[in-house]
Amino acid sequence: MTHRRHVLQLAAALALGAAMLPAAQAQSEPIKIGVILPMTGQQASTGKQIEGGIKLWQQQTGGKIGGRKVEVIIKDDGTVPDQTRRLAQELVVNDKVVALAGFGITPSALATAPIATQSKTPMVVMAAATSAITEASPFVTRTSFTLPQAAVAIAEWAPKNGIKKVVTLVADYGPGNDAEKFFADRFKLNGGQVLEQLRTPLRSPDFAPVLQKVRDTKPDALFVFLPSGQGAQFMKQFAERGLDKAGIRLIATGDVTDDDQLADMGDVALGVVNSHHYSAAHPSPANKKFVAEFEALNKFRPNFMAVGGYDGMRLIAKGLEQTKGAGGQALMDAMKGQTFESPRGNILIDAQTRDIVQDMYIRKVEKKDGQLWNIEFDVIKQMKDPGKSK
Ligand code: PHB
Repeated sequence: MTHRRHVLQLAAALALGAAMLPAAQAQSEPIKIGVILPMTGQQASTGKQIEGGIKLWQQQTGGKIGGRKVEVIIKDDGTVPDQTRRLAQELVVNDKVVALAGFGITPSALATAPIATQSKTPMVVMAAATSAITEASPFVTRTSFTLPQAAVAIAEWAPKNGIKKVVTLVADYGPGNDAEKFFADRFKLNGGQVLEQLRTPLRSPDFAPVLQKVRDTKPDALFVFLPSGQGAQFMKQFAERGLDKAGIRLIATGDVTDDDQLADMGDVALGVVNSHHYSAAHPSPANKKFVAEFEALNKFRPNFMAVGGYDGMRLIAKGLEQTKGAGGQALMDAMKGQTFESPRGNILIDAQTRDIVQDMYIRKVEKKDGQLWNIEFDVIKQMKDPGKSK
């Protein structure tokens, strides 16, 4: 089917759906939110974490907004963008969701953005982190982070801490491109030198050849971005190839020292300095409560994806409270400018860009009570997405 026919059918189906639903009936029915996640496949840990965050929101609120029941419909896209798009279309046309949410990887979010635009359905990105996603539709907002935020933060820290020459290694797709570019630009601006820029494929990467190259190049440090779920395998190979022993420091975005996998990484992760918006060790009372309740409910440690899911539900709920359950442009407008305390710290949805403004922390992996944690030791307050100020 051509894209145009697809869109016309979608518009016709929506018009029919709205006409058939009397107002009184609409009020008594649950508000539906469609969440599309990778519950299977390579990014399944992202799906599991976000689902855990949504469940906690449901437990804390009774799954209600303004007294009205909320039905969260979770669909598994298996990390396949065509599936994400197809499921989004079904959720909008058949289930008549007021909002779409989730989106484990950038290609899934980008594939769905045209559906959000055509159907005027707000789309809350809880995971994917390429800067440009929020520019793909005026109906997109985000509760995760952007790679330019994380990459700029560590590129500020590194040159002040004895790191002058680096090699970069990123996953070869949207967020990796952002991480590579924004790290290198800021690092060079701060007097650093980038010796080489390496990439690995998103699917089934083999780190052995690139790590050999890094060994031969002998930088002060290797800067790494890999999507959540690949960190443990990377760390294992980093150690097996002896890069830690060769005196090459590792710096990264926090995706690599992800709280979901950190406990399984072993001592090779100790001392890795990285930048991110959330650590399960964040010392605020709000986070301590979040982690305790999340672990009691889900039986695993929350990572940044869980917080993206939890905050995404809170953002949608705050919007729906204002619109009294209405979706569309009204809900989108109601989410713009929202601000609240997340387990990560204070967050704001920038009303102009619809993207998230938040603190970016510099952390070091340390052992506390026999477990590994990302311990925050520095912060850049309330950072906007550097990708938007081009
Ligand atoms: C993305 O595909 O945008 C993505 C996925 C996982 C991450 C970061 C970004 O950890």
